[in-house]
Amino acid sequence: MTIRKATKRDIATIVDIHIQRFSTFFLSSLGKPFLKTFYTAFLKYPALLIVVEDEGTVKGFAAGSRDNRSFFKKLLMNNFLCFTVQGIQVLFNNPSALRRMASNAGKSEKNNLIFAELLSIATIRNKKGYGKALLNEFEREVAKENSLNLPISLTTDYDDNEKAIQFYKDCGYRIHEVFHSYQGRKMYRFIK
Ligand SMILES: CC(C)(COP(=O)(O)OP(=O)(O)OC[C@H]1O[C@@H](n2cnc3c(N)ncnc32)[C@H](O)[C@@H]1OP(=O)(O)O)[C@@H](O)C(=O)NCCC(=O)NCCS
Repeated sequence: MTIRKATKRDIATIVDIHIQRFSTFFLSSLGKPFLKTFYTAFLKYPALLIVVEDEGTVKGFAAGSRDNRSFFKKLLMNNFLCFTVQGIQVLFNNPSALRRMASNAGKSEKNNLIFAELLSIATIRNKKGYGKALLNEFEREVAKENSLNLPISLTTDYDDNEKAIQFYKDCGYRIHEVFHSYQGRKMYRFIK
């Protein structure tokens, strides 16, 4: 098993794993071209995109930020042209999605906490510990450039999500708060 920074060549597989493991999630509903643009933006600083590779193929990924302050603005600027094209398409196909994206983007900055943030993690189903290996490496990468000693934060669903909740607890994350996200969706914020 190898854990490494993602490259452009990994994006198609990352998108496939995202769609497979987050099939009912909002971002998946925006389609593959949008997800491709979204994850491509994570290839540039201050974002982080890490993959786990085993038996010659990518089996999972972790994406996040080193610092939540203005992170989504920076992400947008990382891939401005592609986001503009995708934004226009979303505007025509699913206008309410733009409001939701703006709400989600503001979410991590509203609570006055400063943190690095794990924004997305997914693996194919496995019994090899891919997820823990990814999260360990994500934490190591954040620690490399963390002069402010920021904690790592993440949000995850409160309901019907036992596997992920237990996974984060096993990895040393503690519940910071329970809050309601877009349209009343109940969420945990975990911190480590
Ligand atoms: C949450 C998620 C990222 C966790 O990753 P994961 O690879 O499944 O989790 P783990 O690292 O714990 O490893 C998986 C299994 O391998 C087992 N394992 C760990 N190390 C092992 C080893 N060295 N040898 C054999 N088995 C091992 C673990 O016990 C675990 O078994 P379990 O599924 O019966 O609990 C993954 O399940 C996932 O993608 N879920 C769907 C998307 C999702 O919910 N993401 C989080 C949203 S916030």
